Amino acid sequence: MSRAGPEILAADAAGIARAAELLAAGGLVAVPTETVYGLAADATDGRAVARIFAAKGRPAFNPLIVHVPDVAAVRRIAEMPGTAEALAGAFWPGPMTLVLPLRDGAGLSPLVSAGLPTVAVRVPAHPAMQAVLRELGRPVAAPSANPSGRISATTAQHVIDGLGDAVDAVLDAGPCTVGVESTILAPEPGGLRLLREGGLPREAVEAVAGPSVPDLTPGRIEAPGQMERHYAPGTPLLIGGRPRAGEVTIGFGPGAADVTLSATGDLVEAASRLFAALHEADALAAARGAAAIRVTEVPETGLGRAINDRLRRAAVREGADQPDA
Ligand code: TXA
Ligand code: MG
Repeated sequence: MSRAGPEILAADAAGIARAAELLAAGGLVAVPTETVYGLAADATDGRAVARIFAAKGRPAFNPLIVHVPDVAAVRRIAEMPGTAEALAGAFWPGPMTLVLPLRDGAGLSPLVSAGLPTVAVRVPAHPAMQAVLRELGRPVAAPSANPSGRISATTAQHVIDGLGDAVDAVLDAGPCTVGVESTILAPEPGGLRLLREGGLPREAVEAVAGPSVPDLTPGRIEAPGQMERHYAPGTPLLIGGRPRAGEVTIGFGPGAADVTLSATGDLVEAASRLFAALHEADALAAARGAAAIRVTEVPETGLGRAINDRLRRAAVREGADQPDA
């Protein structure tokens, strides 16, 4: 069957109602969150969840983040041990995901948690996503709305470019404000593990929950988002060093560059622009036939750690062969 592409829905009452209707019927809808766009399906519907993996071309059934509208809905699917309550009170709704023990009878498709005894849960703040969750009345599984291993989507156009007909609809609420994925934490009775740096800076987490133990080991089953090659543009990305003739440059702070993360050196702006900047640089590199994109590293504090983490995963080491997808 030939199709004219996904339905593009406005983030108004009619668009939100249509998004919820498609999700209730087992559809795939790309939805805005404050971090990145998510590729959403009804988390209680195994067939719908399976379609997420097919659409993304994910090599394996990695566990997905479940999105719910409030903490009461979190308690229906998961337990809240350790510092979970304090973190939830401080940072939900917002750019934080907690990996929590799955409750018996939670009703989620086992594909969502890839058979693990834990589930990753998030209460997103985005008003359009909040409205979809409330209208649907069921938890929503949603990884980032990009083909596996590629740059995350922070606009509806990125979703359409990357996934096209693989999604039934895109709910377009404009660019995402945070721009990098949620920070993933595992609050456990023995302490707090940090599984992925993200839109909630570590400093903010530790001010509420005390010290965390980073657990960013590449390739760990628990957080395959830690896959070493991830977020990659089509043209090889190099970090730092002196630009060579013809390369496309991505800058930070004052100074000439083809694309800038933030001309004023603002890390919040840089995070919100990160994936759009990579998409822009990639398009420019393709148009110019450039051999490489070269990006400046940002300071390693606050959101800077999440930005540098994403850049390193997107990059190839100079002189090394490009890693396998
Ligand atoms: O900001 C975000 O987090 C976005 C928006 C759409 O919510 N979502 C997102 O999802 O980034 P995804 O699938 O690209 O990344 C989810 C990460 C993966 O690395 C996955 O392995 C990890 O969460 N994860 C999911 N369930 C887990 C679990 N039970 N234990 C440990 N890690 C888990
Ligand atoms: Mg992702």
